[in-house]
Order: sequence, then structure tokens, then C-alpha cells
Amino acid sequence: MNALEAILKRKSTRAYKPEQISEDALEKILKAACASPVGMARYDTLHITVVQNEDMLVRIFDEAEEDLFKAIGIRKNMNFGAKTVIIVSSAPAYREGVEYAHAGIIIENMVIAATSMGIDSVILGGPIAAISHNEALKSELGIPAGFEPLLAVALGYGSDETPVKEHTISINRV
Ligand SMILES: Cc1cc2nc3c(=O)[nH]c(=O)nc-3n(C[C@H](O)[C@H](O)[C@H](O)COP(=O)(O)O)c2cc1C
Repeated sequence: MNALEAILKRKSTRAYKPEQISEDALEKILKAACASPVGMARYDTLHITVVQNEDMLVRIFDEAEEDLFKAIGIRKNMNFGAKTVIIVSSAPAYREGVEYAHAGIIIENMVIAATSMGIDSVILGGPIAAISHNEALKSELGIPAGFEPLLAVALGYGSDETPVKEHTISINRV
């Protein structure tokens, strides 16, 4: 599958089989992450955490549910059963907001690499606040001091055939 095919085939998958991705696939996905462009080449301001520990995955999503409930009074299960979650964290970038661009690019590189290998994914912003609000959890996840989690991705094999959706973004040409 070429890059354009993978980009067009990508979709968010929200139900997973209890099957782990292979170490080889994980290595390739992490290689794609590290190949991401980063402004001013400040790779030292970024950190990637791979979570495959079952208890930790349950804890993250339980805390996320509680955190959301406390914030807006709505309960939402964010755990789709994927056995790998990868979190991108950043120290403050040279300009405010640039760190979010970095995280988005790194996550998308991983998602496209995963898609090209037949691995399903969903980008997760939902659980980030719960991790960010919990210093103990951040430390147990090995997120370096001074870094904040910004975006995550769940990876695995979908248990249903989610169709690829067509989206449009308004475009003008000058
Ligand atoms: C920054 C960002 C955060 C997202 N957070 C979540 C999330 O927390 N939970 C979720 O189910 N999907 C999340 N998504 C996935 C979007 O809902 C999804 O990409 C969008 O609905 C388009 O559907 P598609 O990915 O299937 O094309 C997120 C996507 C992005 C880019």
C-alpha cells in the first residue's frame, strides 16, 4: 500500500479484538513516529510512551471516564479494547501551540504507518486531560518531569468493519 492509499484508507476504529500488534509492527510504527518533522529540530522536547500493560490501560480509561464526569457530568467509556496505546508528550515548545502541531504530526505518521500494515487505530484526545491532571499517573507512565501528554493513539485490529468516511474541509484558492 502506498502512502496515499494508506491516508485514504485510514479510519477511526472504536472496537478491537483482544489481539496485540506484533513487536515488529510496533517497531515500524515507532520508526515512523521518530521520522516526523519537528520545528527547529527540537526532538528533545518530545517523548513517546508505549502502553501495553493491561492494568495501566484499564486505569487510564477509568480515570478518563471519571475526569470527564467531574468536568461535564457525562459518563463516556473511552476504552475501545485496543491492546496498545501510544501517548505523545511534550515540554513547552519554542512558541506556544507548536507542541500540539508536533504531537499531531507524530501521531498521524504512526497512524498512516499502522494503516499501511493493516493495523487499525483511533486518535485519542479524550483521555489526555485525565493523565495531565494526575501527577502520580504521569510519573508511573514515565512521562518526563516538565512534559505534558498532548495526544494519544490506540492501535490494534478492529472487531467490526468500520467503513472509511468521506470528509470535506472548506478550501479556497487564491
Ligand atoms: C486531535 C484528535 C482527537 C481525537 N480524539 C478522539 C477521542 O478522544 N475519541 C475518539 O473516539 N475519537 C477521537 N478522535 C477521532 C475523530 O473523532 C475522527 O478522526 C473523526 O470523527 C473523523 O472520523 P474518521 O477518523 O473515521 O475519518 C480524535 C481525532 C483527533 C484528530
